[in-house]
Amino acid sequence: PRRVRTAHLREMKERGERFSMLTAYDQYAAEIFDEAGVEVLLVGDSASNNVLGHDTSLPITVEELLPLTAAVARSARRALVVGDLPFGSYQASPEQAYLTAARFMKEGRAQAVKLEGGVEMVGQIERLSRGGVPVMAHIGFTPQSEHALGGYRVQGRGDAAERVLADARAVEAAGAFAVVMEMVPGDTAARVTAELTIPTIGIGAGAGCDGQVLVWQDAFGLRTGRLPRFVKQYADVRSVLLEGARAYADEVRTGAFPGPEHTF
Ligand code: KIV
Ligand code: NA
Repeated sequence: PRRVRTAHLREMKERGERFSMLTAYDQYAAEIFDEAGVEVLLVGDSASNNVLGHDTSLPITVEELLPLTAAVARSARRALVVGDLPFGSYQASPEQAYLTAARFMKEGRAQAVKLEGGVEMVGQIERLSRGGVPVMAHIGFTPQSEHALGGYRVQGRGDAAERVLADARAVEAAGAFAVVMEMVPGDTAARVTAELTIPTIGIGAGAGCDGQVLVWQDAFGLRTGRLPRFVKQYADVRSVLLEGARAYADEVRTGAFPGPEHTF
């Protein structure tokens, strides 16, 4: 299958076609989502709280995320693979951002990187774009700034809509090829989508975006507890695994497994 490239996403927007993005952090998830026709795989820093057991995305390091990125890049045949830059690995300066992004492209074999921020990230986005790194921006609610933003809350309500618009315009002008909008009111997200020429990708930003993204452990039911309102659960992987693991443990306990057919 033909590789999805950043230009294809732009062409899809021009044709009015929607595309999907999912997180992936390992080989089988990447293979399956790629086979399903998902256009973009994001090796999110959400691996921090979906793989490594932390409760926020902040603690994950470049060293931890690089091998996951490489695993996804090795396993996806068609999807565009985007590496997410961890907290603290790009905010300090455009040079820091470039050095980190280059590692994601070289060692992680990512085809693009994502970073959080709008107007304040213009220097970073320009530096990366000039240096051959396609950048996906991420505005609205930005989880790496959870403590600065005062927790998980919708961004861009009322007067704050202008802030989201300004961020969107700034990242497009700086050279971003796409922009994620997280927890932004649907009308604001639709306005941004209409105004920009680059594709917008929503998470909790309504149906007016050019693409959508979800964290796969949320979308397919691996995570427990209350899910954010913007998540739709498409599968219940947790119960499938739970039943399988229980049946296996039971059969080992009773001696039903292994049977003669599993024995040499
Ligand atoms: O890390 C992540 O999963 C993300 C998406 C939710 C956009 O940044
Ligand atoms: Na992220």
